[in-house]
Amino acid sequence: MMTKEQILKAATLSISAHNVQPFRLAFPSDSEILVYVDFQRLLPVGDPHLKDLRQSLGALIETLAIAMSAEGEGIEIVEAKQTAEQGQPMARLKRTSGVPKDVLANQLTRRFSYRGKFTKKKSIQNHLATSDGFTIEFLTKPADLKDVSQIFDNVNYRFLTLPGYLEELYSWMRFSSSHPKWSKDGLNTESMSLSGVEAWGASVVLKKSIFDFLAKLGMAKALVSEAGQIQSASALAVILCKSHNDIDKGRAFMRAWLTLTEMNLFGAPLSLLTDDKPALDLVQKKLNTKGQEIVNVLRVGPLGDSYKKPAPARLSYQEMEWKK
Ligand SMILES: Cc1cc2nc3c(=O)[nH]c(=O)nc-3n(C[C@H](O)[C@H](O)[C@H](O)COP(=O)(O)O)c2cc1C
Repeated sequence: MMTKEQILKAATLSISAHNVQPFRLAFPSDSEILVYVDFQRLLPVGDPHLKDLRQSLGALIETLAIAMSAEGEGIEIVEAKQTAEQGQPMARLKRTSGVPKDVLANQLTRRFSYRGKFTKKKSIQNHLATSDGFTIEFLTKPADLKDVSQIFDNVNYRFLTLPGYLEELYSWMRFSSSHPKWSKDGLNTESMSLSGVEAWGASVVLKKSIFDFLAKLGMAKALVSEAGQIQSASALAVILCKSHNDIDKGRAFMRAWLTLTEMNLFGAPLSLLTDDKPALDLVQKKLNTKGQEIVNVLRVGPLGDSYKKPAPARLSYQEMEWKK
């Protein structure tokens, strides 16, 4: 039977928006795992309706299920709530046994967010990857990548100018390795693929007062553009699923990302596209898959053998345990 320590370590392999790592696990008995929310780690501006929190919960549940399968164990959802209440578990999971090893188990430690430019392209022959619970449709035409990069830049800029959004994002950014939480949580500049000079530049430009000043001069949008990174990708991997439930979508998101990793495709989500109706409609129009909801869109491409995965910024497994 997996130990508490092993399960907590598996939980650190999961993903969360802005890497806030909002969940804590409790083990009231050998057969039950409870998932609590740390309310200090919510994103009231970026995630006001808790959509990202629910998707992150789905991703955590899927991560645990996959990691535990490697030891012949499994989990079933007894209850998973759509909302979080302080001091109450958001999910109750039951431990099961006799589960075969998940085909994606080996990808858990290989997956990571790559946010830099791609230096080479990979030709993607099959434009559709389907599996249990999700579909990935690849958009590979340069014109599609260009269109989506422009829409993304517009949406990104619109969000950055919403009251409180930039300040909240900035509070989760780690611009220097001397930041006490550099290797613990949030987005450090290594995970954002920024050089030392770029990191310094970003720490200045993204300060609210300076960003507003640059916005008045009409310079801010170009400075935060991700068009270069998006257009250098080999494809946009659009993850779709049939369920309308965000927790199911989070599970599909994690499985699809691990599937991309298995295909040696790396990259990062462009979640803001799913937070903006016109952007979502435009991506939807480009797809052949109909009747499924877009969970997320990742820009993906290959990385050279010499590329070294950055050290993941994560809380320790001890910090993942729920403390009253
Ligand atoms: C619901 C959700 C939304 C996310 N949105 C974005 C995004 O818009 N851009 C991005 O670069 N990463 C996004 N991510 C990825 C996380 O930032 C990333 O997984 C986390 O920082 C952990 O880092 P790692 O992927 O390198 O392990 C998202 C993750 C989740 C679960």
